[in-house]
Amino acid sequence: MRVVSGIQPSGRLHLGNYYGAIRQFLALQGEVDEALYFVADLHALTTVHDGALLAQRSLDAAADMLALGLDPARAVLFQQSRIPEVSKLAWVLATVTPVGLLERGHAFKDKVERGFAPSAGLLTYPVLMAADILLYGADRVPVGEDQVQHLEMARDLCQKLNLAYGAELLRRPEALVIAGAGVVPGIDGRKMSKSYGNTIDLFVDDATLERQVMSVKTDSTPVSAPKPERAALLALLALVCEPAERDEHTRTWRAGGVGYAAYKQRLLARLHELFDDARRRRAELMAERGEIERVLAAGSEKARAIGLSTWQRVAAAVGIQP
Ligand code: ADP
Ligand code: TRP
Repeated sequence: MRVVSGIQPSGRLHLGNYYGAIRQFLALQGEVDEALYFVADLHALTTVHDGALLAQRSLDAAADMLALGLDPARAVLFQQSRIPEVSKLAWVLATVTPVGLLERGHAFKDKVERGFAPSAGLLTYPVLMAADILLYGADRVPVGEDQVQHLEMARDLCQKLNLAYGAELLRRPEALVIAGAGVVPGIDGRKMSKSYGNTIDLFVDDATLERQVMSVKTDSTPVSAPKPERAALLALLALVCEPAERDEHTRTWRAGGVGYAAYKQRLLARLHELFDDARRRRAELMAERGEIERVLAAGSEKARAIGLSTWQRVAAAVGIQP
């Protein structure tokens, strides 16, 4: 069983990224024969046009994953752009990709609506993602719900190439949609997202973390009164607490008697308990960048070796040099 997934190096990680996706990636590394995780810097290039910034963020993303527990002994961590075959396979796949399929992409339409220029790169993003998945012969691809359509496209393109050139050229992956925390709310109650500026970040200094937690939106319900059910603060607390404590919070939330400030203090304390080790590890890694580089270089070599046989098969079948 081979698992493959990528994360875009798109800036600071928040609780939504962690509980929605990363936590499950990390859990899988001990369960499957082979787990391949990569920093999707070629994908990030569709929205980041600042070379120094992108290079920096790619290193940051690798440090984030390592700090959070990705273990290079059990999972391969690599950098997408170090694998030239992925871009070549993407080109071959593009030649069997209907433009109409890409134009129906939710992520594409969404990004264009948010003001990104509708570049060919943004449109063909799913083709490159299909190449990421198919090159390594992934059996399963753990992704959050927002990536399900991209995965369907990858399965589609796999079938199109297989049909055009012979049955089993590429292995067709199953989705493994992450049964994660659902949608993690941000401090304003909407979906937590970088683009809404409503995040609680994993790797910020203590003062910023405290400010973010204290900014979770609450109303003017008095301490003694029952609190309204659908509240970001309660959902966030539920996310970070063990079941017994979670039940207790739900009980007092409904009964009244505990003020919002006390819940926020508890949320802050839990975040320190859960993530301070990772924050320390991350600071150490950033002070020793050579180590991150080494992990990425070694992982990329392994990933490239795995992908090469697929690429050679495809190149031979379509009639080009590998
Ligand atoms: P953002 O919305 O902050 O730009 P991304 O789109 O980069 O986040 O998301 C990266 C991964 O994290 C995705 O696979 C997505 O499923 C997950 N994710 C992001 N925000 C949330 C959230 N609020 N709740 C659950 N999962 C999330
Ligand atoms: N598009 C994914 C995201 O934004 C990142 C990604 C790129 C990916 N290539 C992939 C995920 C291949 C899984 C498999 O989250």
